[in-house]
Amino acid sequence: MTAPAPVVEPAKPAFSLSPKQLAYWKAPDRRINLLEGSIRSGKSKVSLLKWAIKTVAPAPRDCVFLITGKTMTANRRNCLTVLQKMVGKANFKFSVTTKTGILFGHEVELEGANDIQAETKIQGGTYKNAYCDEIALYPPSFITMLLGRLSEVGAGLTGTCNPDHPKNYVKTDIIDKPGLDKAVHRFLLEDNIFLGRDYIENIKKEYAGTVYYKRFIDGLWCQAEGVIYPVIAATPERVVVDKIDPASIKYVNIGVDFGGNKSGDAFSAVGFTKQGPVIIDEEHVTGIKTPEVLNARFCEFVKKQMAVYKVYEAYVDSAEQTLKAGLEDAAFKAKIVLNIRNAKKGPITGRIHLINLLIGRNRFRILRHCVKTIEAFQQAVWDKRIDKDERLDDGTVNIDVLDAAEYALEPVAEQLIAEV
Ligand SMILES: Nc1ncnc2c1ncn2[C@@H]1O[C@H](COP(=O)(O)OP(=O)(O)OP(=O)(O)O)[C@@H](O)[C@H]1O
Ligand SMILES: [Mg+2]
Repeated sequence: MTAPAPVVEPAKPAFSLSPKQLAYWKAPDRRINLLEGSIRSGKSKVSLLKWAIKTVAPAPRDCVFLITGKTMTANRRNCLTVLQKMVGKANFKFSVTTKTGILFGHEVELEGANDIQAETKIQGGTYKNAYCDEIALYPPSFITMLLGRLSEVGAGLTGTCNPDHPKNYVKTDIIDKPGLDKAVHRFLLEDNIFLGRDYIENIKKEYAGTVYYKRFIDGLWCQAEGVIYPVIAATPERVVVDKIDPASIKYVNIGVDFGGNKSGDAFSAVGFTKQGPVIIDEEHVTGIKTPEVLNARFCEFVKKQMAVYKVYEAYVDSAEQTLKAGLEDAAFKAKIVLNIRNAKKGPITGRIHLINLLIGRNRFRILRHCVKTIEAFQQAVWDKRIDKDERLDDGTVNIDVLDAAEYALEPVAEQLIAEV
């Protein structure tokens, strides 16, 4: 992917724009161009196209550009395939493997902002301009680094995001910061005239009662407060089921959280079906416990699941490598064939959002006998004392079982998002 493709005459939008999109299309570009507001409001579609046609296509020959997403997978889903569809394969080719592309004859680098190596790579790069999808979800260090790399005259970035916590870096250091060469464009759901009424009503229902309603529907940068899973708190019957047909479960992941002395150690078994994940079993090991007790209970728990379901992997709290090694050893001695991996432990907010999204789409279930898990989901509340979204973890709520369930879910998060 070295030789620039011949520049094909850039197309004008082959589709009509909403009045809001048209206003954005005509607005002069600044160094930082931010489109923020409700989900599905039409930000990405118009900004990707404007960036490609008005910023990249007419640039001098030797300029290098950058497209970033929260992850490479999200980048591909939200930007690369959408852009390619709009401008055509003749004008945009890309490879996720080499993380490069050619857009209107110009070299484009592709990155996922949560990749540690991406920051180092960007540190060495000089870019003419960047397109940043979901920029409020990037580590602040990545954004500062990027702005530093866009120091040339005429360099800049276009970014889109949904509102987040009011202390989010994008809000405090870009939107609210005076003196920056910036244009902030606010998009609301109603601005997207191409969405059907039913569609809008449905997504409103899906987020009802959650902090995500205020942020993603009303477009407000607001603090999360109150219960985290309002649907389970108010109407548990929407997720609790008496039984599940074992044949409908493709496989089961085990999640393990080590709570230390202050709380307990938790195991969770999560089954995956065509209708989304189901928490099928739980165990909370509390009281006086030794590594031997923990190991024995773990082996018992895993064997119980294996007697009914296909279980290949366990995702274990990576903070306690000695305990994890103990589980591995015990499983080996008990002749349990299981891949015991470190849990990914991505941001808790990402896991919370995923589960609320699944609940909203009726794609998340818990078997009735998992009483501790149900209770924990009902009692979980946001911690208002901190300047970011954080789940209250002061010992009053059983966070262990939630962590364990989330560790089991996390590895398939992208797939679950794609399914909805
Ligand atoms: N001008 C348009 N013509 C037809 N459909 C459009 C237009 N603009 C947006 N849409 C459609 O509306 C939906 C939402 O648009 P888009 O992805 O741009 O929204 P967004 O604000 O980036 O959403 P999110 O915040 O969820 O990323 C998409 O299905 C898109 O194809
Ligand atoms: Mg978007």
